Amino acid sequence: KRPLIIDCDPGIDDFVAILLAHSSQQFDIRAITTLGGNVRPEYTAANARDTAALIGLDCAVGAGAQTPLMGDLITAEYVHGPTGLGGVQLPQARRELDRRPAWDILYDEACRCRGKLEIAALGPLTNVAIMLRKHPEAAFMIDKLHIMGGSTTVGNHSAYGEFNIWEDPLAADIVFTSGIDLRMVGLNCTAQGVCAADVWQSGIHRPGAVLSKLRQMMDYSAEQTRSWRPDTDILHYVPELPDAVAVAGMIDDTLLRCRRYPVLIEVSGTPSVGRTLVDWDGVSGRPRNCEVALQVDAARITELYRQMFAFYEER
Ligand code: BDR
Ligand code: CA
Repeated sequence: KRPLIIDCDPGIDDFVAILLAHSSQQFDIRAITTLGGNVRPEYTAANARDTAALIGLDCAVGAGAQTPLMGDLITAEYVHGPTGLGGVQLPQARRELDRRPAWDILYDEACRCRGKLEIAALGPLTNVAIMLRKHPEAAFMIDKLHIMGGSTTVGNHSAYGEFNIWEDPLAADIVFTSGIDLRMVGLNCTAQGVCAADVWQSGIHRPGAVLSKLRQMMDYSAEQTRSWRPDTDILHYVPELPDAVAVAGMIDDTLLRCRRYPVLIEVSGTPSVGRTLVDWDGVSGRPRNCEVALQVDAARITELYRQMFAFYEER
């Protein structure tokens, strides 16, 4: 199995991404590391720990950055609810959080996995950046870093800023200039990576404790969406789940069409701070540091969700 760490800020779509990764049975999930992002860091850590227990995933869970490297932590309770999972309470796990900070867990596993570790970074990039600041050589000890973040077009938190990059542009810049093998799955792609409505709706209504929690989160999410988009059809509601698209692309290598480009991060001082600027024609002379996801095969993603629902039925 492929060794993997999921670094995240659960977060409803982070929750689904963890479910999807585990259900694929392709990964040896060595740890889940967390940080402040969608909600405050104490909630994201507890959510990750309780999610792992809920799905029977026995791995270390460790908390990391409380704040971005630059500026204050801005959270997104308006999307994910006050504690991050749409107000849904998971049974509290018995396992304690790992004592090591997230960046030490990342580095320890990078060493242990001898070049084979993959990281799915589904929140701001602060934990990964701190690891790279402490151990710059770690950039070359990781098989691949799959990021949900950025956009080749518009943002969702500002005109050009996607939330994860916008939250900590300095961390993103450290990561994007580190030499690490990088794939960016941005909003341009994740917006199309949506499950077919019939599969999604029948899936979340299948029996089992895991799917019942997911269904409750989806009820919350549908109502939230309806509050700002009143014509939302609740019965056929399918959410955008950006983090899950990045994980889906890891499970099925044919799912994303990607190409390498130089990608620069706008770190400060402009209205487009947090933008992932893609140098399409290579005129900057910068290295092609990033594999950029350009297109997603929605039929393939629907198939992965179908398998996920079958996996969790009655669990
Ligand atoms: C990303 O930001 C968060 O709201 C989601 O969990 C996802 O990682 C989308 O911009
Ligand atoms: Ca996230």
